[in-house]
Amino acid sequence: MLEKELKAWPKLLAYYQMAAEELESDLKIIDMDWKIRLGYSPIEHLKVRIKSIDSIQKKLDKKGYSANFENVKLHVLDLVGARIITSFEEDVYLILAHLQERDDYRILKVKDYIVHPKPSGYRSLHVIAEIEVVLHHETVWIPIEIQVRTLAMDFWAATEHKLQYKYPKGNIPEAAMIGLQQIATTSQKLDQGMSLIRQEIIQRTQEEEQE
Ligand code: GTP
Ligand code: MG
Repeated sequence: MLEKELKAWPKLLAYYQMAAEELESDLKIIDMDWKIRLGYSPIEHLKVRIKSIDSIQKKLDKKGYSANFENVKLHVLDLVGARIITSFEEDVYLILAHLQERDDYRILKVKDYIVHPKPSGYRSLHVIAEIEVVLHHETVWIPIEIQVRTLAMDFWAATEHKLQYKYPKGNIPEAAMIGLQQIATTSQKLDQGMSLIRQEIIQRTQEEEQE
């Protein structure tokens, strides 16, 4: 069983733990830096988590891979996951641009479900990357997944997640599905409205600086 194998290989799990620590501290540091320099940070909320052994097993089962470490390394790229919540859609891309500039992150894939929402209505930006972890004798690169989305996108995703949990295997009642689609559209409009407010704030700030 996978659990046995994981217990027999604590070093590998420790690497993922280190990566989670590194990721959380990196994100907290840029949040502080943004606040100090600009008086504003695109990071509204931040959460870093490690997948439970149970979820790792479920993911491998779902993908049809047998439960061993080679498959964990190759196919579970979200063992360490961060979720960053922003106020504005523009902030999502500021965070992506920051990650792309860093030498201690290697971006493997960007899935833009904001430009291309999922059929469910799900919107979010997923960045699959590797993070550099510097150890005493070596440097290791550990896969991570960072999900970046606005408060409106997160509100929708959290609600839909609750429904999925209540009604597993796509058994969400028709009326709730229609409701979800409508809320997805509303959440998109909310983000558009927030973008306009953001532009006004920027314009006002620029005018004040010129005065
Ligand atoms: P996984 O094998 O589950 O990782 O799927 P995938 O490789 O196709 O990745 P995907 O881009 O679909 O992102 C997976 C993660 O995004 C999930 O674990 C959820 O956290 C989130 N997610 C993706 N689609 C939805 C959705 O329709 N609703 C909600 N609430 N979350 C979603
Ligand atoms: Mg680092």
